[in-house]
Amino acid sequence: MKAVVLVGGEGTRLRPLTLHTPKPLLPIANVAFIERQLDWLGRYGVTEVILSIGYLPDAFIRHFNGDSYGEIHLRYAVEDEPLGTAGAIRFAADGIEERFIVCNGDVLTDLDLGEMMEFHAARKAEASIALTRVLDPSAFGVVPTREDGEVIAFVEKPPAGQAPTDWINAGTYILEPSVLKRIPVRLNVSVERETFPRMLEETGRLYALQSEGYWLDIGTPEKYEQAQHDVLLGCVGFPPAPGAVERSLGVWVQGSPEIAADALLEPPCLIGDGAVIGERAQIANSVVGKGVKVGADAAVRDAILLEGASVSAGADVKRLAVTGECELSVV
Ligand code: GTP
Repeated sequence: MKAVVLVGGEGTRLRPLTLHTPKPLLPIANVAFIERQLDWLGRYGVTEVILSIGYLPDAFIRHFNGDSYGEIHLRYAVEDEPLGTAGAIRFAADGIEERFIVCNGDVLTDLDLGEMMEFHAARKAEASIALTRVLDPSAFGVVPTREDGEVIAFVEKPPAGQAPTDWINAGTYILEPSVLKRIPVRLNVSVERETFPRMLEETGRLYALQSEGYWLDIGTPEKYEQAQHDVLLGCVGFPPAPGAVERSLGVWVQGSPEIAADALLEPPCLIGDGAVIGERAQIANSVVGKGVKVGADAAVRDAILLEGASVSAGADVKRLAVTGECELSVV
């Protein structure tokens, strides 16, 4: 099975972290987000992924350093200019002649793709959309359906309290190749705001499956922080990162970091390989990246220290994502 993953956005809400690193390559608990997504797709038999790239294409090519990730064959579809979600699918899926999966490259989920494929096949759908339920749908595109899942309408950002349903488009689709013919070539078009609503008018077979699985759009500083926390708590499975070992309840360690005997590690936290945690330093509800140095008496709380970061002795780091070059407040 093939999948197109949309990773072309600039991730403006996560600047400055995304000025040099595209959002899908930012780590979640020390694993590049896109790798988590490829692992998830691979578990459902996806063997070929086309990365639909616009912003900082070289960063992806450098990251994967070739055309494979584990058992998955990778292809890169690089846009000269942003084509929107539908335009990007049309461009990236050029030549695909069988059923395929599309997903947004910024959604952390354990959605059951096997169930979704059965749902799609049983209804002979032309397009199936995964839905997730949120408390406040007013910032999202909501998708009311009939009992069998047939889509009734697409309602973009309904005013608070007036949404017809709290089930929103979760950004994962199964598409028949005929959907590609509905998208104009090389134009900026949105699949959720233009292609799908037009399919409804043209009586396309459009269905949506309500999923109770874990779902989080990592696109804002708060959600980026929440994703780390949720992964540490096992919301998308254990261990939270490959090779991580639970040193004490909720305290995970990768490889061989140097941790001072009197450093205080409070769960949940993850310490990356080669990190150095100084004497009396305190790490709580945080992720410490590979090779990061935390000086003596420093306090790191609710923070994400990405590879390349270092914390001076005695410093106080709270609610921040920090790299070697910049920091982002996650409050
Ligand atoms: P913000 O700038 O912070 O809104 O983030 P974003 O640029 O990622 O935009 P948004 O969250 O709306 O995008 C949802 C998904 O679609 C993300 O996975 C983006 O990478 C992807 N995406 C958005 N626009 C494009 C595009 O023009 N081309 C491609 N290939 N992907 C896109």
